[in-house]
Amino acid sequence: MVSSATEYHNAVSYGRGRLSGLGLDWDNEPSTFKTYGDLPPLPLNRDAGLPQATLWSALGRSRASRTHASRTLDLDALSAVLFHAAGLTRSCPHRGGMMFYRACPSAGALYPCEIYVQWPGGAGLGQGLYHYGVAGHGLTLLRPGNTTPASLGLPGEAGEALFFVSSIFFRSAWKYRARAYRYLNLDTGHVVEGLALGLAAHEVDASVELDFDDRAVNGFLGVDPAREGCLAVLRAACRDADGLAEPGPLPAGAAAWSRAGGADTLPAQLASVHGLCMERFRQGEGMPRPEASHLGQGLNWQDLPPLPDTAPATDLFRAMALRRSRRAYSHDRLPDGALGQVIEVLGAPLHPSGHPCENACLAGFLALPGFFLLNRTALRAAEVRDGNMGPAMAGICLDQHWMRDAALQVVFLADLPALEETLGPRGYRAALIGAGRLGHRLYLAAESLGLGACGVGAFYDGEAADVLGLPPGVGMLYAVTVGVPRRAGPKKTLAGCR
Ligand SMILES: Cc1cc2nc3c(=O)[nH]c(=O)nc-3n(C[C@H](O)[C@H](O)[C@H](O)COP(=O)(O)O)c2cc1C
Repeated sequence: MVSSATEYHNAVSYGRGRLSGLGLDWDNEPSTFKTYGDLPPLPLNRDAGLPQATLWSALGRSRASRTHASRTLDLDALSAVLFHAAGLTRSCPHRGGMMFYRACPSAGALYPCEIYVQWPGGAGLGQGLYHYGVAGHGLTLLRPGNTTPASLGLPGEAGEALFFVSSIFFRSAWKYRARAYRYLNLDTGHVVEGLALGLAAHEVDASVELDFDDRAVNGFLGVDPAREGCLAVLRAACRDADGLAEPGPLPAGAAAWSRAGGADTLPAQLASVHGLCMERFRQGEGMPRPEASHLGQGLNWQDLPPLPDTAPATDLFRAMALRRSRRAYSHDRLPDGALGQVIEVLGAPLHPSGHPCENACLAGFLALPGFFLLNRTALRAAEVRDGNMGPAMAGICLDQHWMRDAALQVVFLADLPALEETLGPRGYRAALIGAGRLGHRLYLAAESLGLGACGVGAFYDGEAADVLGLPPGVGMLYAVTVGVPRRAGPKKTLAGCR
């Protein structure tokens, strides 16, 4: 049991020499696909036309979303948005079967996230709550009708489409044990950002909601709240909605489909921190700008140099479909302008102006050489520490030596006691989801620029704080490396991968 999110974060910290005995129980490997037995999924169009957009234009759209008329979400757009956030994009032989990789990265490729869509009707799809079946790229109707956002503790109108991103806890806990709550939320952030960018590229106004009534939402989705929980919701504009009809009944025994393995008992600390994070946000001013944070106070803040006007032309949806975790870097510096273009994608706000969670997660980067803290939305930075800390970070990240060759390491941090004091324990969830969302942008920026990126969630927490010079209470949540892919020599291929 833990009594605060800060206590949880510290309790599941990794320490050198303390990781032995964490073997995997292959006989109890969780399934990564949720199905609803005999309920027939409605196949979605795999060849839906895609709008032209780049990561940078989609982020510009989300920055300016309230000043342009929103398009309405239709069934083809829904199909494309779901596929490019979480669809199957690659398969490989694995342990006598096949391993499927997805548009979203996932810690340990365990894919804990599920997506449910409350469709308000119109565009050829009846009003109802649907589950997105990743394996068959289809939607399974769980209950007809609609509900009001207010009944779920959400803002907004009844005619909007709602995307619920849940996590099946045991999928990640099977490998990462109690530490898995970190990964569940980081993974959620990746999926949320994939959905948000897909919607923005379709010019559909959308917002990410982190404050809702968890119990009401989980009940509405019909998940088993001890095994699966909704961690984030997106609201998307829909103009052709049908009138409001009461939600119909859920399929009999729906909650049983949240089970991911035979013996899916959860570590007590995970269940306990999730219970704390289910409480709504404390109402208040929100987290301060990085300049006013414990880490940022007293530093010499400067504007980042202006970027050249040549935004990369690579198509966003292509980058989303081709994205992979890339770890073989050439040790080269990033090409001219690329550092700025990568950092720029962090600048688009995660939430509407003044949202209390915008600065829940702090971003910094290691390059040049030095460790710099960012004010993302103002594109300002301040050096925290001088020197080349990249190689030390590779050691800190459980000796993942490939990280030494990364040209850029972006780190996501949180001032945990301040976060909890200001927003309540749910602020911890917001910080992790924010880190996952920003990490997803880095993956897609790298893919768009012909670079490689890889998320890193495994690190010795205390050593990371020492090397980065973090004040007490500030902890590392996540890191994402970016580098120039190594191209020389014969390409290693895995027979059977496509
Ligand atoms: C939250 C998170 C943490 C991760 N941590 C690591 C890590 O520590 N080391 C690593 O090599 N890859 C890490 N990855 C990358 C995953 O291993 C990778 O996403 C997964 O194997 C699927 O492969 P793909 O990204 O190429 O589709 C992480 C990914 C996420 C989303």
